[in-house]
Amino acid sequence: MKILGIETSCDETAAAVVEDGVSILSNQIASQVEIHARYGGIVPEVASRQHILAIIPILKQAMAEAKVTWSDLEGIAVTIGPGLAGSLLIGVNAAKAIALARGLPITGVNHLEGHIYANWLAEDSANSAPLFPLVCLIVSGGHSDLVLMEGHRNYVVLGRTRDDAAGEAFDKAARILDLGYPGGPAIERAARSGTASIQLPRAWLKGTNDFSFSGIKTALLRLVEQGKISNKADAAASFQEAVVDVLVGKTVAVAKECRVKQILLAGGVASNRLLHQRLVENSPIPVSVPKPILCTDNAAMIAACGYYRFQTGEINGLDLDVVPSLKLA
Ligand code: KG4
Ligand code: ZN
Repeated sequence: MKILGIETSCDETAAAVVEDGVSILSNQIASQVEIHARYGGIVPEVASRQHILAIIPILKQAMAEAKVTWSDLEGIAVTIGPGLAGSLLIGVNAAKAIALARGLPITGVNHLEGHIYANWLAEDSANSAPLFPLVCLIVSGGHSDLVLMEGHRNYVVLGRTRDDAAGEAFDKAARILDLGYPGGPAIERAARSGTASIQLPRAWLKGTNDFSFSGIKTALLRLVEQGKISNKADAAASFQEAVVDVLVGKTVAVAKECRVKQILLAGGVASNRLLHQRLVENSPIPVSVPKPILCTDNAAMIAACGYYRFQTGEINGLDLDVVPSLKLA
């Protein structure tokens, strides 16, 4: 089953064709990062307008790269939330137009589910599908969720952030250190030439599976304000170390407690190398992470998740609408 995936929830206009939820036939992404970098963050109005400009070219590129025609497709999967309303609408309306013109079924996908399903995309034949039960750590710009899955599309949220999401914390720390936007890759790059020599607090929130990252960020801000940061690389490395420490510690603990067979990483922050490395080093349970381009926003993951929705008959009508604050469970 060849599915066209469409993703426009934030600042990437993306389209992809995926076969049977596993094989990527194409994966096209138009990033707006350079435009938003001028403002130090995403400007929703600008994002919507960029999606309008990019959506048709990116759809054409995805079809061409996959070497398919509209009649080869069997369904359309599109992100309906969570995300920016004005951005989501561009993708949803494009998906509806194609569905109407070609008589194709359409399914609305939760962006966070999409991130999880990036782990089912096979990059080579050596890749095997994740094993249930599993725990997935979703770490993106807006979420830090620990989720238990006992089967496909079955989610129990075990913990979430109480304040900043992990990606948001990286973005804010990069702004504090004046390292540029987006913050995650900027911190990771700067950290390579530094050592984690600065003490920053970790919020363990013992007895819960929740996270809190605002304390680490505030501690960093205080040190900068007091002129105590003489080396930005060391500060970046220390910040990254503190966030990774908490993410890994809590994820491994809950995975052991739930006696799962596998730990999955998902979302933009999952592309952080230290996070992956530390998780592998500290977990007795096998860890799976998509390759970096499939961790950050893309449409292949939406098509992969859409495949499983079609399998269970979750087909939407042309009245499909965006849900900007959509939850996972
Ligand atoms: O999943 P994603 O692409 O978009 C959302 O759904 O939010 O995640 C974006 C977030 C941003 O906060 C970005 O700074 C962070 O992921 N990120 C990283 C890295 N690459 C992206 N954080 C840490 N290390 C990275 N290498
Ligand atoms: Zn995302």
